[in-house]
Amino acid sequence: MNIFPDDFLWGGAISAHQAEGAFLENGKGISIADGLRNGMRGVYDVEPLDGIYYPFHEAVDFFHRYEEDLDLMQGMNFKAFRTSISWTRIYPSGIEEKPNEAGLVFYDNLIKAIKRRGMEPIITISHYETPKYLAIDKGGWENRELIDLFVKFCKTIFERYGVDVKYWMTFNEINNVRRLPRSAGAVFEKDKNRLKQAIYQASHNMFVANALTVKLARDLIPEAKIGTMLSLSNVYPNTCNPKDVFETMQLRRSSLFYSDVMIRGCYPTYMNRFFEENNVKLSIESNDLELIKRYTNDYLAFSYYRSTTHRFGSPFVGDTGGDQGTPNPYLETTAWGWQIDPIGLRFTLNELYDRYQVPLLIAENGLGQEDFISDDGKIHDTNRIEYVREHIRAIEEALKDGVKIFGYTYWGPLDIVSAGTGEMRKRYGFIYVDKDNEGKGTLKRIKKDSYDWFGKVIASNGKDLD
Ligand code: BG6
Repeated sequence: MNIFPDDFLWGGAISAHQAEGAFLENGKGISIADGLRNGMRGVYDVEPLDGIYYPFHEAVDFFHRYEEDLDLMQGMNFKAFRTSISWTRIYPSGIEEKPNEAGLVFYDNLIKAIKRRGMEPIITISHYETPKYLAIDKGGWENRELIDLFVKFCKTIFERYGVDVKYWMTFNEINNVRRLPRSAGAVFEKDKNRLKQAIYQASHNMFVANALTVKLARDLIPEAKIGTMLSLSNVYPNTCNPKDVFETMQLRRSSLFYSDVMIRGCYPTYMNRFFEENNVKLSIESNDLELIKRYTNDYLAFSYYRSTTHRFGSPFVGDTGGDQGTPNPYLETTAWGWQIDPIGLRFTLNELYDRYQVPLLIAENGLGQEDFISDDGKIHDTNRIEYVREHIRAIEEALKDGVKIFGYTYWGPLDIVSAGTGEMRKRYGFIYVDKDNEGKGTLKRIKKDSYDWFGKVIASNGKDLD
């Protein structure tokens, strides 16, 4: 018996800023990603400087090469393709009255090209791409003004693409406002003493924007499914010491808080104590909680890359891969320090379905590693095949456990710029892109061994994993 539903959405996921390039082309404005020299934690220049290499400015030139790239995705039998709509292509600084038509035309063509190849477009509305003007001049998501500006952006794209796009998600990894406030929440607060205040006020404003977006979609595109998206790589207690166990639950809650609000529709009571002890005083307007309660998301999408362990008293830190604590001696670790744990994916799927009972989408999962062209001209990425195979087996087990999962979009089916580090060297793709960390290379696309393998997995609807 094949456990994967017939309409299971097998495919891949990218984001606009990590793939498109075409910096400022066709009227695009500057987004916060455009000032990053080496990823989210690296140097940020408010105004990109001459003579400095900014990896997202050209990225892998998907903007000009998407037809070729989508042909390659089709060659792997993709049923779905997830990408984001760059806010600054549509509203260059975020506040314009009218959208930028040239930007809209680009996504008209891209979405049609995805559909023409029989793939379901899955659109992330905001993937670490807030317009720089809103982030810096307006103060980011801590400022309530962003709510209406975001909803205006959503209205524009719902009206334009609503006929073709059924699956949307509002914010990529919204819980990363806590871990990576600059990129996820456009929070550039410098005063450490008020950082938590800024983070949680920004989060609240994003919750309201999320609810209003769901409301808008119900009115304009009632057939659409509006998801929310979280970074939910797993975390285990480091030992069975109750202190480790309890604090690990608290660490997990600091992420699940986001889906608790957006899927369950209210602030969980455990946050009251956290807010009190951290002197966070949210400014909540009279209608906000009602909106949050009424307009919850249709599905929960999440990224899962790895797991880690937590030890009592360790700080709650993380990166693009999720929480990062004490290494787990039972797991292998990638060159970037990410520990590979397929069972953790089964665990997470069960955890989320137990908690929410809404359909789940594995929106990101993948292996970032250095890949090499061998003497035979091929790229033998056996580790990647092994990684994906074991994660698909874990999904299969979770489906048998009764979890409702409607898709798996592998992260970075073609090599793109790493969000965390700005590198090209950290590659996820089934398709190699000839470009290095300094931006040199022909941008030529080369299929890796994993390319045919993944195509075969999809063709057999997950049966043939050999
Ligand atoms: C997720 C992001 O956090 O992880 C992606 O949604 C990102 O944008 C991915 O690329 C992998 O992280 P990295 O740092 O290896 O690119």
